[in-house]
Amino acid sequence: TSSGDIAAPLLEWYDANHRELPWRISPRQLAAGIRPDPYRVWLSEIMLQQTTVEAVKSYFRAFLEKWPDVKSLAAAETDDVMKAWAGLGYYSRARNLKACANLVAAGKGAFPDTEAGLRELPGIGAYTAAAIAAIAFDRPAAVMDGNVERVMSRLFEISTPLPDAKPEIRTILETLVPPARPGDFAQAMMDLGATICTPRRPRCMLCPLRDGCQALANGDPELYPVKAPK
Ligand code: ADE
Repeated sequence: TSSGDIAAPLLEWYDANHRELPWRISPRQLAAGIRPDPYRVWLSEIMLQQTTVEAVKSYFRAFLEKWPDVKSLAAAETDDVMKAWAGLGYYSRARNLKACANLVAAGKGAFPDTEAGLRELPGIGAYTAAAIAAIAFDRPAAVMDGNVERVMSRLFEISTPLPDAKPEIRTILETLVPPARPGDFAQAMMDLGATICTPRRPRCMLCPLRDGCQALANGDPELYPVKAPK
């Protein structure tokens, strides 16, 4: 698979098949010049760290209704934020969320627009910094979550077991990110992993990348990613 064959068909598929999500700006809206709100991108990515898209939707809407911007979240009582988070689990996320909102509001009032700047904030690790930088600020960041690791392992038939394969996957992924649409590319990889390149019984017949998928060409995509023996 040459890298040129990935972003174009993937984005074409995403244009037609992307999921409508409450925090997402569609390719059509982006083309019309509508920009994502970094606060919403941040809030959604924190919620999505250990929680499914379906479970996050209603919490995301409720948070936005109560606290429409980072200033209002910074002004909120911590107890109220913890109450609104109840049910999502991993409550350190909510504590970090509040700490992060307070820092951003007390500083420039806006989120940093680079991966390095975002990484310095509480609750924002490598994955979340890359996701916000790509989706909110069009930075060509390599956004790697479990879905993306699976898609990449199959496309390039990566035989190194996870997690050891991560640096190898990241190196290839960095070469694939299209400079014009890094945010859509990241979200397209996630949607592909969630809806087509699923852990079990992937729907390869519907995959926009099937022609270049090495695992499909050589056998069984379901065998990837390879997991280290326990
Ligand atoms: N999972 C984590 N971030 C996501 C996003 N922006 N879109 C879809 N699924 C996600």
